[in-house]
Amino acid sequence: MVDKFSIDTEKYRRALSTFFTGVTVLSTLQPNGTPRGLTVNSFASVSLDPPLVLVCVSKRASSYTVFANTTHFAVSVLAEKQKNIAKLFASKAIDKFSQIKWYACCSGSPVIQGAVANFDCQMYKFIDVGDHGVLIGQVLDFSHTGKAPLGYCQGMYVGFGLTNRVNSISKPPANTHTISEHPYGLVLINT
Ligand SMILES: Cc1cc2nc3c(=O)[nH]c(=O)nc-3n(C[C@H](O)[C@H](O)[C@H](O)COP(=O)(O)O)c2cc1C
Repeated sequence: MVDKFSIDTEKYRRALSTFFTGVTVLSTLQPNGTPRGLTVNSFASVSLDPPLVLVCVSKRASSYTVFANTTHFAVSVLAEKQKNIAKLFASKAIDKFSQIKWYACCSGSPVIQGAVANFDCQMYKFIDVGDHGVLIGQVLDFSHTGKAPLGYCQGMYVGFGLTNRVNSISKPPANTHTISEHPYGLVLINT
């Protein structure tokens, strides 16, 4: 009999990576007033009334303690042209915000300029669970544009442009694919 708690971590990761997501930057102001953020694709809507969203932050993230203790945070949904920003915020760079354009949203949290959508949140509940913390935020304010969002699946960034446009910043292992219109539906083009 297979022990249900003994799973192959690599296979498990690969199975999870088949779930197609958008790419967001989770951000907050640190107690010293400086912005802090990381790339997350664990963003999800929890409730419409009240409006609640969640993100999961790994305890291995150097910003974990900051997010575990913050009262407010923001989520910026990245546009397909913002792959560089996704990569920057997935890095361990010391001052990520000095390399991009951002502004403070209503509650003071930093948001990424040019993002598809922004959600300004107040911490509703923080749950310490397993090797992650789950931040549930009550949405105080939001904005969105008609831009195409950046996608992520199986370790690759994916563009949603309905043309054969190539996202020029593609480098292995995070290759970019473009979804194009085809008589039979949408096709994923390896660019
Ligand atoms: C597409 C993508 C999605 C990610 N999603 C998450 C996530 O949901 N939660 C998380 O903790 N880390 C996630 N990461 C990893 C963090 O962005 C990465 O560990 C980052 O370096 C953490 O930054 P920090 O150490 O400055 O806090 C993701 C990385 C990528 C490329």
